[in-house]
Amino acid sequence: MQADRPFQVGFVHRLRFTRDAFHPENPAFAEAFEEPQTDDRTTRRRAIIFIDDGVAKATPKLGDRIAEYLAGKARRGVNVPEIRAIETVHGGERAKNSTEVVDQVLSATDRFGIDRKSFVVAIGGGAVLDAVGLAAATAHRGVRLVRLPTTTLAQDDAGMAVKNGINRFGKKNYLGTFSVPWAVVCDELFLTTLTDRAFHCGFSEAVKIACLKDPALLTQIERDAAAIRARDLAKAMPIIRRCAELHALHITDGGDPFELAEARPLDFGHWAAHKIESMTNYAVPHGEAVAIGIALDCQYAALAGLLPQADATRITAALTALGLPTSHESLDRVDELERGIEEFREHLGGRLNITMLTGIGQGVEVHSMDHALIARAAEALRSRRATTMRP
Ligand SMILES: NC(=O)c1ccc[n+]([C@@H]2O[C@H](COP(=O)([O-])OP(=O)(O)OC[C@H]3O[C@@H](n4cnc5c(N)ncnc54)[C@H](O)[C@@H]3O)[C@@H](O)[C@H]2O)c1
Ligand SMILES: [Zn+2]
Repeated sequence: MQADRPFQVGFVHRLRFTRDAFHPENPAFAEAFEEPQTDDRTTRRRAIIFIDDGVAKATPKLGDRIAEYLAGKARRGVNVPEIRAIETVHGGERAKNSTEVVDQVLSATDRFGIDRKSFVVAIGGGAVLDAVGLAAATAHRGVRLVRLPTTTLAQDDAGMAVKNGINRFGKKNYLGTFSVPWAVVCDELFLTTLTDRAFHCGFSEAVKIACLKDPALLTQIERDAAAIRARDLAKAMPIIRRCAELHALHITDGGDPFELAEARPLDFGHWAAHKIESMTNYAVPHGEAVAIGIALDCQYAALAGLLPQADATRITAALTALGLPTSHESLDRVDELERGIEEFREHLGGRLNITMLTGIGQGVEVHSMDHALIARAAEALRSRRATTMRP
């Protein structure tokens, strides 16, 4: 027999933004466990919860608060799962640099009888969401994952993703899967305990997506940059929410949620970013590496005659105004940095596709990059380092 039968699978991307998610009157977190009418409602579901140790440290008694919240909802007849365990996991890139967190979560799914209709809840930054997500996606070939992103970057980008991953062989996200989370609940209160550096990190992804898809958003970011840098949530949250919405829409309406096509436009600035992260042994966090990667690709595009220099300067200035770096000493090692291009191609498969800007809101795919121009772009950023370095 020979048969080619196309088929489709229906998913829902469930996203809530809220404030104080564990307040007894707040419905958002309980709603994250809602199930389709067709599911059996007679068995109470189970849940195990993993909290980023940075979050646990910054928010004492968080586990108790979550337990009280869910117990209160259950008493009022809301269909929420029974918590079997609340554990902390290593936060930051450490969560992705070994299999320790993945193993911890897998072992808990086994010990606490987490079946495919039970829930794994991940509370943390993008790194914890990625590592816990990989375990949740592989236990029993996939159990339900509820994400509570706790950094700006996780709330405006990573938390929306339909993928997960950890680092292997010195390469970012080498080991991972595509997997749609059951629900994503973003509580802005988490953002109040971030360091300034971690708070600023999420806005490189906002500049990225504004440059690609929403020129008005870039203007808004420029206008409010000083307030965002000073952590004014009234100005920062609308940008985080819009950025999250654009990332979610790209997944649901962009036509390629599992990246089967060649191009991956949301990875603008990321070929260099991922390489800078691994070159520095992750001392440069993802958000900062993305800022440097965007600045580099904008300067490259300007030198290549693709992008007006004024636009490149404008974007770089926006990143600086947000408190983000646009240069780094790893730019001195251009040959090593350039290996990131081939690693990027290899990760995506097929021919090289790198998104460059031709204007604000306009991208183009290029299939090769010129060594001499990369070196000149890096040199231009390095010569500005003195003035653009983080204060
Ligand atoms: N899956 C995806 O599509 C996707 C998309 C973008 C980024 N990412 C990944 O996300 C990671 C970066 O995530 P990130 O920027 O959120 O940083 P992070 O997860 O590395 O967290 C940074 C630090 O902040 C701490 N922290 C987290 N929340 C906190 C809070 N509320 N209060 C105090 N401390 C807190 C963490 O413990 C950690 O030390 C990278 O590994 C990147 O590759 C994944
Ligand atoms: Zn990114």
